[in-house]
Amino acid sequence: MLNNRSILLTGGARGLGAEIAKCLFEHGAKIIIADIDAEEGRRTANKLGVQFLHVDIEDPNSIEALLKDVAKTFDGKLDGLVNNAAIATGIGGVSFEEIDLNTWDKVMRVNVRGTWLMTRAAAPLLRASGSGRVVNIASDTAIWGAPLLLSYVASKGAIISMTKSLAQEFGSDQVGITAVAPGILTTDSTNDVSATRHSFYNENRAVPGPQAPEDITETISFLLTKGALTLTGQLLTVNNGFVFS
Ligand SMILES: NC(=O)c1ccc[n+]([C@@H]2O[C@H](COP(=O)([O-])OP(=O)(O)OC[C@H]3O[C@@H](n4cnc5c(N)ncnc54)[C@H](O)[C@@H]3O)[C@@H](O)[C@H]2O)c1
Repeated sequence: MLNNRSILLTGGARGLGAEIAKCLFEHGAKIIIADIDAEEGRRTANKLGVQFLHVDIEDPNSIEALLKDVAKTFDGKLDGLVNNAAIATGIGGVSFEEIDLNTWDKVMRVNVRGTWLMTRAAAPLLRASGSGRVVNIASDTAIWGAPLLLSYVASKGAIISMTKSLAQEFGSDQVGITAVAPGILTTDSTNDVSATRHSFYNENRAVPGPQAPEDITETISFLLTKGALTLTGQLLTVNNGFVFS
C-alpha cells in the first residue's frame, strides 16, 4: 500500500506512534521515527531497522534541524508526515478551575504549535513529493467534550480545525491532510485514566469492548496513500462507534 513512500512520524517511540511505525513499515514505507525520547525512540526504530532522529516539537530550532536531516535522507521529498507526538498523559482528572497556567501553555505549545511548526517545516518537502499527505492525530475527546481534561481537549479541537484550514491552503499543491480521532486506547498513556472512564467507553461503543492501537493503524496507513487525496480536510473518527463525526 505504501511501497517506498517516505514518511516522517513524530512521537513514534512508544504507544500509538510505535504501532503506527510498525504498520507503515509492514506496508513498505520508508520511515523516520522522530521523538523527544531518544532512548525509547532508538529502541523502537532498531526493532524495525528504520532511522531514528531526535526532535523536541516544542522547540522551533529542533524542528528545523530535524527537517534538514529528513531532506537529506529522502532527497528533498517527503510523501507523508504523521503528527502524532503530543502531551497525552498526566494532565487529566483536573477541573478547568484548577489547571495551572504552565500546564495549559505547555500543552498548547507542544500539541498545537508543535503540529503547526512541524507541518510548516515539512511543507516544501511535501510539495516536492507531488502526492504529499499529512495525518494529524486528534482525539474523540474533542468531539464529545470529555470533562476534566480541558487543555488536552482544547488542543485536539485545534488540531481538527487546523486540518480543515490547512487542507484549503495545501490543496493546489496536491497535498492532502486529514485528522484522525481515536477514542481511548489500551496504551500505557491511558493507565492513569479512571476505570470508570475506560468502562464508559467500552460499554458504549457500537462495537463494545476495548480498542488497541493496532485497531486504528490500518486507517492511518491508508490516509498516507496517493488514493486518499479525496479525503483532504476530513476528520475520521476511529473509535468503534463511540461518537460519530
Ligand atoms: N492513547 C489514547 O487513548 C489516545 C486517544 C486519542 C488520541 N491519542 C493521541 O495519540 C497520540 C499518541 O498518544 P499515546 O497514547 O501513544 O501517548 P504517549 O505519551 O505514549 O506517546 C506520545 C509520544 O510523543 C512523544 N513526545 C511528547 N512530547 C514530545 C515533544 N515535545 N517532541 C517530540 N516528541 C514528543 C513522547 O516521547 C511519546 O513517544 C497523541 O497525539 C495522543 O493525543 C491517544
